[in-house]
Amino acid sequence: MTDHLHTTRASYDTVAADYETLLREELANSPFDRAMLGVFAERVLGGGGGPVADLGCGPGRITGHLAELGLDVFGIDLSPEMVTVARWAHPRLRFDVGTATALDLQDDSLAGAVSWYSTVHTPPAELPVVFREFRRVLAPGGLLLMAFKVGDESVHLSHAYGHDLDLDVYRCPPDRIAGLLTDAGLVEAPGWCGRRKGRRRGPRRRTCWRASPADVTSGVRACPGPDPRYGRRRPGRRGGRGRRRPSC
Ligand SMILES: C[S@@+](CC[C@H](N)C(=O)[O-])C[C@H]1O[C@@H](n2cnc3c(N)ncnc32)[C@H](O)[C@@H]1O
Repeated sequence: MTDHLHTTRASYDTVAADYETLLREELANSPFDRAMLGVFAERVLGGGGGPVADLGCGPGRITGHLAELGLDVFGIDLSPEMVTVARWAHPRLRFDVGTATALDLQDDSLAGAVSWYSTVHTPPAELPVVFREFRRVLAPGGLLLMAFKVGDESVHLSHAYGHDLDLDVYRCPPDRIAGLLTDAGLVEAPGWCGRRKGRRRGPRRRTCWRASPADVTSGVRACPGPDPRYGRRRPGRRGGRGRRRPSC
């Protein structure tokens, strides 16, 4: 396991219980998120349904919501403590420990996948590995719904959710994410882009992609330098003391 996976896992192991408590009502107060998730669920069910994975599920709040919408959904998370909390919070649902960099799932096995802010701790140079995994496990035509933080910088959090931790958070320009998803063999589902300014935590984006029937490309593309269209932004300070680092 690489260093960033170790530190991310250890950090979420530390904060798991408090993260669950702090974010328990978040979705109830986020009508736009519920709308995106609702359309995603409707589209997956409209396409015949099938297994859906919440990849980087944390305490399972999105997994639980999608299950309520009728999806056959399970969660996977890097952090064993998060998985313990998710099983406690949603005892009827399945949660497994695993990493999005090497999913223990069959090729073409999912009708849908959700990555809800779960790639924000992946160094940009490693995103192609994760996105190829997303494509590999999605059946052709399967849908990927992603939420991520917009920008072009990274922040090191040494304190958040009431705990000391060691966590890097990477923002990425939407065009770069789009390019990497396209390289991985996904095509953007039209009319599916949700932007949000996010006064507290900076700009965010939700976007939906479809696994194309085409083969997954095998080349790993190096992350290009900072995109001049995106200015420098203040690091998110949600309880954390940020040490800004250049991203990709
Ligand atoms: C910001 S939290 C979001 C959790 C959940 N999606 C939510 O919205 O509440 C990020 C989650 O992604 C998980 N994560 C980070 N990198 C991962 C990886 N490579 N594979 C699986 N999970 C990962 C973390 O353990 C953490 O639970």
